[in-house]
Amino acid sequence: MSIDRIQKAAVIGAGSMGHQISMLCALGGFETYLQDIDETSLRKAREQLEHHMDRWISKGKLTTEKKEAAFAKLHMTTSLEEAAENTDIVIEAVLEKLDVKQEVFAKLDKLVPAHTILATNSSTIVNSKIAAFTSRPEKVLNMHFFYPPLVMDCVEVVMSDQTSKETAETAMAFCERIGRTGVLLEKEIYGFIANRLLFALSKEAMFLYENGYADFKEIDLIAKKALSHPLGPFEIADLSGIDVGYYANMQLFQETGDPNDKPAKIVEEKVKAGHLGRKTGRGWYEYTKEGAL
Ligand SMILES: NC(=O)c1ccc[n+]([C@@H]2O[C@H](COP(=O)([O-])OP(=O)(O)OC[C@H]3O[C@@H](n4cnc5c(N)ncnc54)[C@H](O)[C@@H]3O)[C@@H](O)[C@H]2O)c1
Repeated sequence: MSIDRIQKAAVIGAGSMGHQISMLCALGGFETYLQDIDETSLRKAREQLEHHMDRWISKGKLTTEKKEAAFAKLHMTTSLEEAAENTDIVIEAVLEKLDVKQEVFAKLDKLVPAHTILATNSSTIVNSKIAAFTSRPEKVLNMHFFYPPLVMDCVEVVMSDQTSKETAETAMAFCERIGRTGVLLEKEIYGFIANRLLFALSKEAMFLYENGYADFKEIDLIAKKALSHPLGPFEIADLSGIDVGYYANMQLFQETGDPNDKPAKIVEEKVKAGHLGRKTGRGWYEYTKEGAL
């Protein structure tokens, strides 16, 4: 399917990632349906997007007319059927659990037209594991956006050995239409590129912290001052959600069975306590509305 045939996009999951991806699609001129099983997530999504777009207007990055045009194209629903009906591309952004994603894809496969591309925004999971639950593995791929999608200009577009070239080309063209730089990876690997690099850094940071070589604040400070990283590894965990990293690690551990791949105990404790980072006001650091305390 060529990019010119894409008119309607559906984004499944209205959390940290999904709501902003849906805004990019609507700003890119696509009729967009944002679906979530949780009504509250959708309400929060709309409030946050109104806030972001108003800030863009005050900074001169967007006109009021363009904002209104985009919101006219953005529909929110709890019905998967409504989101899937006649859609040309789906970007799934539900939580990072393989069985949940497989179930969503199996349902979508039955609801969307035969030509529709099904993409997953998973941070780590290769699409072939999900495509196996559909009847269209050639139309399934990863489109991995980065947090926050309204700011971060990169999407890893990852093919499995069953993804067709045409699907990958259309996904790359879609990225261009929504103002994002797509980077095509023709061979899939767990975690793709960015997160594999980040995992290596985070794992070492956790080792140093857990063994008392430095406090997490010092580790972040050194990463920023000595390596010129804009954020330290613990700050990144808070930004993207400690639970997101935890589930990604659990997934890796299930795949490899290597105890070294298990999430750190302190991370598990934070997830159990609901201290998930910026989104809950507390993670490694504590946050007010203005920023880290
Ligand atoms: N947070 C990040 O930094 C980041 C970056 C890149 C990719 N990702 C990936 O994006 C995906 C979503 O992450 P997030 O941080 O937005 O998570 P999140 O927890 O903020 O949001 C997930 C949303 O999915 C909804 N949901 C759960 N099950 C559903 C279902 N069956 N159908 C519809 N909606 C459902 C939840 O109600 C919630 O609103 C994950 O796969 C994650 O790995 C996250």
